[in-house]
Amino acid sequence: VRRVKSSPVTFSARSSGGRYAIRVEPGALRRLGSWIRDRHLGERAVVVSDATVAALYAPAALRSLERAGIDATLVSFPPGERSKNLRTLERLYEQFVDLGVDRDSLVIALGGGVVGDVAGFVAATYLRGLPLVHVPTTVLAQADSAIGGKTGVDLPRGKNLVGAFYAPRLVVIDPVLVATLPPREARAGLAEVAKVAMALDARLFRHLERHADELANLDSTPLVPAIVAAARAKAKIVSEDERDRGRRRILNYGHTVGHALEALGGYRRWLHGEAVALGMRAAARVSVLEGRLSAADEARQGHLLDALGLDAAFPRVSIGKLFSHLELDKKSRRGEVAFVLTAGVGVARFRRNLSREVLVRALTSLGAKP
Ligand SMILES: NC(=O)c1ccc[n+]([C@@H]2O[C@H](COP(=O)([O-])OP(=O)(O)OC[C@H]3O[C@@H](n4cnc5c(N)ncnc54)[C@H](O)[C@@H]3O)[C@@H](O)[C@H]2O)c1
Ligand SMILES: [Zn+2]
Repeated sequence: VRRVKSSPVTFSARSSGGRYAIRVEPGALRRLGSWIRDRHLGERAVVVSDATVAALYAPAALRSLERAGIDATLVSFPPGERSKNLRTLERLYEQFVDLGVDRDSLVIALGGGVVGDVAGFVAATYLRGLPLVHVPTTVLAQADSAIGGKTGVDLPRGKNLVGAFYAPRLVVIDPVLVATLPPREARAGLAEVAKVAMALDARLFRHLERHADELANLDSTPLVPAIVAAARAKAKIVSEDERDRGRRRILNYGHTVGHALEALGGYRRWLHGEAVALGMRAAARVSVLEGRLSAADEARQGHLLDALGLDAAFPRVSIGKLFSHLELDKKSRRGEVAFVLTAGVGVARFRRNLSREVLVRALTSLGAKP
């Protein structure tokens, strides 16, 4: 991110636990402590982070909390998806016991989607629930995962199989923080922004198309409004459907095949966003085969992903192996594949029972091995 000169924006999301504010402001990290104090969220804070983010931003976070009179401690774990598991949870619970974390404490998730999901689940479950504040530090987490209250960890056999809905009390988005992201991570985050655009925000899609080159180079001028638009769209949809029973399911666009690819690659080969971009290509192809999407719109999505630097071709993976991971997808029931189709830019539809045969044809035509 080269320049950040945007003014503060605040919006909110509704949850069964109450409404929470989402504040976007360059330099927000420095104000974290005073916002938490003003909201009386706790007297003591545990900042949960990964080692990479902790080295970059924990000092500023802790300083801000101390300045506000909040006693703060840092706990961290190794970065990456491979830390999003039960073992990490157990270690964190043990550290919480050692630290004497009690009911007057709050949890601050400082990091990307992995930290948000792990720290969120710890906040949901330790002492049956402590207040949670998200401070997302990746494009993906700022645009998407910090909002909506989904928390949890992976099992070896599938993504996000253990988790809870647990809404934060506050989300603090400081767009300056993403400047230190490795370019590959930032671009993977753009996939989730493109997903929101394709699923429900045609205007955001046009913004991404218009500024794709700058976005691929992580220029903050178009990036910050893109993050804000995606985060707003997400806040709106999760407010209507907190528990993912209805309309929220369209945010899983690209994720059925995306999650299966991630598992197939041992959570190593593709970053989440990269797998989602490939999943979006599969979803568009299925939609074309189902007669829902025009070839022109499929190409339009393809061009945008290419221009954002998400230009990897669909891998030559075995469809049989891919299907063994689809089985565990939480959206699949009784052997049918639940799937999010697209009917055009900004229009997605949940489909309970997609025929496997169509999915096989789509994957084959993209280059997967039958
Ligand atoms: N809860 C939800 O609603 C939701 C939504 C989408 C994705 N997710 C989950 O989010 C996860 C992916 O999140 P992610 O892409 O943010 O991954 P991540 O949290 O692993 O972060 C990516 C990498 O960037 C590093 N990093 C983070 N912030 C940085 C910064 N500012 N500067 C430099 N390095 C930084 C991290 O240490 C890590 O190595 C997946 O597990 C996915 O399932 C959850
Ligand atoms: Zn995702």
